Amino acid sequence: MVKGGLGLLAGLWCLGAVAQVPLGLPPSQPVATEEVVALGRTLFFDRRLSVNATLSCGNCHVAAMGFSHREMATSVGIEGRAGRRNAPGLFNVAYLPALFWDGRSADLEAQIWSPLLADNEMGNSSRAQVLARLATLDDYPQRFERAFGRGIDEQTLGQALAAYLRSLLLGNSPFDRWFYRQEQDALSAKARAGYRVFVTRAGCHRCHQLGLEWALFTDHRYHNTGAGAGARAQQRVQLAPGLATTVGDLASVGGAAEADDGRAEVTGLASDVGRFRTPSLRNLTLTAPYMHDGSLATLEAVVAFYNRGGGAHPNKDPLLVPLNLSTEEQAQLVAFLESLTGRGAEALVAEAEATAVGNP
Ligand code: HEC
Ligand code: HEC
Repeated sequence: MVKGGLGLLAGLWCLGAVAQVPLGLPPSQPVATEEVVALGRTLFFDRRLSVNATLSCGNCHVAAMGFSHREMATSVGIEGRAGRRNAPGLFNVAYLPALFWDGRSADLEAQIWSPLLADNEMGNSSRAQVLARLATLDDYPQRFERAFGRGIDEQTLGQALAAYLRSLLLGNSPFDRWFYRQEQDALSAKARAGYRVFVTRAGCHRCHQLGLEWALFTDHRYHNTGAGAGARAQQRVQLAPGLATTVGDLASVGGAAEADDGRAEVTGLASDVGRFRTPSLRNLTLTAPYMHDGSLATLEAVVAFYNRGGGAHPNKDPLLVPLNLSTEEQAQLVAFLESLTGRGAEALVAEAEATAVGNP
């Protein structure tokens, strides 16, 4: 490959090199230089990226929780301000063509501004504010120079954080070793039976797709499962004669939950109301609770939800119908889902937790 003339790209990616992709994941992830990845990792865990230096990306995306947050169904930003969605795990986010539960962002480099600027996440008032602050901190200016051959700007900040996210690959699960390497002992008989339920009676694979060489367990589309429908119903409350207000359930710290129209918020189509992106099913044991609003606490609850035919929503996907699975089949399905957690998370978590960030 030609290195010259590619400018910034040449500095960022080791051209020609591809990461050692874990078993079961799609091939060919480009690798950034270690310097860029390490810079992105430091930034990810630096609370000073938020307006009042209290919240880092890593506070909502906790490394030991698959870069999600187990304690919070929906996330909480600076000053306890409530979010309406569950923080997704970030392993294998490199492969997603559309980010967020509603798919509103297409690339990892650009999506960082969503949390950085949302007033219920990191609360910064502008991109310029973030860049100016970073330029005054520790050795960031020198580290950006070393990593990119240029200073801190929107692109280099995006590329550093994205490079770190792209390095978080986790595959090689018991299922992968059984399915892709035919290691008979890798998977329990119960999980193997669960796989058969998954691709036959339960029909989960119609949305959580898997292929003959790799699997991300998603069709990258948007569906309405009815998850969370009703739980967030907005109610009109009469405060005094002639004075009414609308409140939702107090589902999270710091305020009432807002309505969430899902994909429709991006497309404006009524038919997309309540549709959310099909999530990957890898590494689920690390990332409870589940669904866009964290409304299902366990995998058992998710399977029971599908067995009932999903939630109650007028636009629910016709693929979701009551499954009439036996208790045993449901337990098998759970065992299969549990078998999708990869090997090697510990090293990435240890590296994340050892990240030294400068003092405010
Ligand atoms: C206040 C908690 C919070 C903070 C801080 C936060 N995130 Fe998130 N993150 C979320 C939530 C909630 C979502 C899902 C939002 C949605 O779907 O609308 C999300 C989604 C994402 C996604 C998309 C994942 C996917 O599967 O589509 C990425 C990537 C991401 N965050 C990276 C970051 C980075 C990088 C930072 C720091 C610059 C950061 N986040 C800071 C809560 C947070
Ligand atoms: C019609 C498409 C479709 C089918 C069929 C389907 N799912 Fe899903 N699945 C989704 C979508 C979309 C979501 C996200 C829903 C939301 O957050 O509101 C989801 C979410 C999940 C989650 C939560 C993942 C997370 O990270 O929060 C699990 C687990 C899951 N599905 C397992 C299954 C199983 C097991 C089956 C079969 C019994 C199944 N799904 C069938 C589309 C589908």
